[in-house]
Amino acid sequence: MTEPRPSWHSNVGFLLAAVGSAVGLGNLWRFAYLASESGGAAFVLVYLAVIVLVGAPLLVAELAMGRSAREGAFRAPGRLAGRRLEWVGALFVLTGFAILSYYSVITGWTARYLVDVARGAVGRDTAARFAEAASGGAAVAWHLAAMALTVAIVAGGVRGGIERASLVLMPALFVLLIALAAWAGTLPDGGAGYAFYLRPDPARMWRLDTFTSAVGQAFFSLSLGMGAMLTYASYLQKRGSLVREGFVIALADSSVAFVGGLVTFPIVYQFGLQGQVGESTVGALFIALPHAFATLGATGQIVGTAFFLTLLIAALTSAISLLEVLVDAVVARTGWSRRRAVVLAGGATALAGVPAALDLRWLGVADRIAGNLLLVVGGLIIAILTGWIWPGADAELADGFPHPRVRRAWIWLLRVAIPAALALVLVGAVRDALGEIAAAIR
Ligand code: TRP
Repeated sequence: MTEPRPSWHSNVGFLLAAVGSAVGLGNLWRFAYLASESGGAAFVLVYLAVIVLVGAPLLVAELAMGRSAREGAFRAPGRLAGRRLEWVGALFVLTGFAILSYYSVITGWTARYLVDVARGAVGRDTAARFAEAASGGAAVAWHLAAMALTVAIVAGGVRGGIERASLVLMPALFVLLIALAAWAGTLPDGGAGYAFYLRPDPARMWRLDTFTSAVGQAFFSLSLGMGAMLTYASYLQKRGSLVREGFVIALADSSVAFVGGLVTFPIVYQFGLQGQVGESTVGALFIALPHAFATLGATGQIVGTAFFLTLLIAALTSAISLLEVLVDAVVARTGWSRRRAVVLAGGATALAGVPAALDLRWLGVADRIAGNLLLVVGGLIIAILTGWIWPGADAELADGFPHPRVRRAWIWLLRVAIPAALALVLVGAVRDALGEIAAAIR
């Protein structure tokens, strides 16, 4: 017998779970290194504009798809737009699978750093330490541990696992993050960090590559473009507007990224670690910050523990949303019990993550392709599908806009401006991805 489709216990529970999905490694790890790579404050400004004009409108569309279809990422596109778009569901699930496989590796690093920093066991040569921790046998072991933890939460179900975990973990994350930002504010030489992060260089703002990385980052950070948010929204029972939900999630997510920058940049500049952030993109957070913590002795131990705990919470509540997409897809496809589906999906992803845990270049390539390119492709599909193909889109989103003009603007964005912008980004992203792959193979 098939189990009934799960649902959220409360709207707050849904919102915190969705914010939990959005707020992840992307907000701290990816955001920090992209911002430092792309000119600091200029990137921040472009990023915020992209969130408002591209991310949030698309997020509303993705949420609407899930709630209306009452199906997860795998089935919803076909259900809404007909059989010829069924492949979109498969693409979504595949993208999620690929992202989780390496996301869990980084979650594993985070767990390990939490333990090591708490024990005061991280020396000052953090670059060598990262090289040792990032790939190899230990990285595989920590990746498997991270997957096991993710599986344990998702096995508890939508209400008893995901929602319950989010209700506890997300408020804890907010408190920790604000405390960290306040502490960073006491650093005597953090000023240069704030300046870099907050004072934009106008020349950097109008460059195409700044825009391109901002779009990629917006998708990744909002969990947008592969049906994670769609799947969460498919467990909603309430009717009415999703516009507010979409914007609340986007606001919460970008606030966390922004405050995260108020933590990392003063620390980085206080200790003169700018070079290390740009040097190894994936390693930035794991090389620069532990170095600062090691320099600070006992204070560093406390602050560092708080920092990696925050990061671990963020990573876990995102990983569970990725796994939930796969679990829902397995259930939809096989009719198995949830528990069985969790074990299969979790086991398969754990295996698929091993190469990323053994080789940093593999991880980088997977992040480029799945975490950037495929999400933008997915976003383009969502825009076209809700803007042009799915006949019920209008009715689903008829209300909830503060003014009819806003609604018209939203439809125009979805139909015209967003697809055009994403097509532009895709051309650039394909070019970058090919270059990256060529460099990795060499
Ligand atoms: N948004 C998360 C982060 O910023 C990562 C994530 C979770 C994600 N679910 C996703 C990214 C779905 C893309 C799609 O770390």
